[in-house]
Amino acid sequence: MKRSFNFSAGPSNLPTSVLEQAQAELLDYKGTGSSIMELSHRGPEYIEIDAQAQARIRSLYGVGDEFEVMFLQGGASLQFMMVPYNFGFGRTMTYLNTGEWARKAQKEAKLFGTVHEGFSSESINYIRVPKNGEFSVAPGSAYLHFTSNNTIFGTRYAAEPDAGAVPLVCDASSDFLSRPLDMARYGLIYAGAQKNAGPAGVTIVLVRKDFLATARTEGMSTMLAYKTHVGTMFNTPNTFGVYLVNLVAGWVEAQGGLTGIQALNERKAGKLYAEIDRDGFYTGTAETDSRSRMNVTFRLPSEDLEKRFVKEAEALDLDGLKGHRSVGGIRASIYNAMPEAGVDALTAFMAEFRRKNG
Ligand SMILES: Cc1ncc(COP(=O)(O)O)c(C=O)c1O
Repeated sequence: MKRSFNFSAGPSNLPTSVLEQAQAELLDYKGTGSSIMELSHRGPEYIEIDAQAQARIRSLYGVGDEFEVMFLQGGASLQFMMVPYNFGFGRTMTYLNTGEWARKAQKEAKLFGTVHEGFSSESINYIRVPKNGEFSVAPGSAYLHFTSNNTIFGTRYAAEPDAGAVPLVCDASSDFLSRPLDMARYGLIYAGAQKNAGPAGVTIVLVRKDFLATARTEGMSTMLAYKTHVGTMFNTPNTFGVYLVNLVAGWVEAQGGLTGIQALNERKAGKLYAEIDRDGFYTGTAETDSRSRMNVTFRLPSEDLEKRFVKEAEALDLDGLKGHRSVGGIRASIYNAMPEAGVDALTAFMAEFRRKNG
């Protein structure tokens, strides 16, 4: 059996131990004689999994019952619409435009209320996120929306943007469960699971109860109202997906929780950036202060060399390194489950490639 080091932006690696456990339990979940996929979502086995996944996510982020945890469908993209539909209807919302996903989220919000763009790095091809003091918050904003990690451009906020008393709403799709957060600042956090937390098809949403109390209640489509989903399973969730999210959350606990995984992520990213910065052969595309620890984006001296880099890396089972078309170059996505050995193999390959072509 072959397991490549998969550097793609998502879906991406899952921890091998998680896949092995899923494989072992696939046909007969805990002596039931059925796969978890075949069991009712109202049965005791799935209810236990769902509750454990919620509890693990709360505990990893160090919060209690003040946050509701939901496992929804429709991807992070549906959250672009659900957030303003629930919280911004007829109101003013502040958005920080730091990448393609941030821009898409902002576009949806305009359907429901007044969007104040508090910052944009679009004109500089999104090479950085704002520092505190570099963005504005519209008075009376229902929330400030930001994208904690910009998957395509390889940037991230080192710390939460300071919006004063305005609650933060965060698209954390590409760095969910990768580092601790200052949870008191958040009204809502959402993430498609397929990068750091599980397979595609589950969207994890954490919402603070007092923020949820500000949601619109009248005239709401049932499925699109968060209130429909909190504390209950309104319809059939992606049971197998949530089962995997639960295993991944357990794996993160075993890595020392979010501080443990953060230390590992800093080390992995540090090794790659050190290789990029060694001389002028590789050039990082993001500004240093904004560099992502999840998606490391860089260029080579020519497009021709970039093509060869990707091809030769693949021959060594270092897969998925081609950058997004809007940035070009190389993108190494090194989510939680990318083993440090994968980063070591990539940096060794980068050094050798430079030696041969530099
Ligand atoms: C930061 C971010 N937000 C949103 C999305 C869209 O997620 P989905 O495909 O789950 O709708 C992505 C996908 O890559 C992403 O990286």
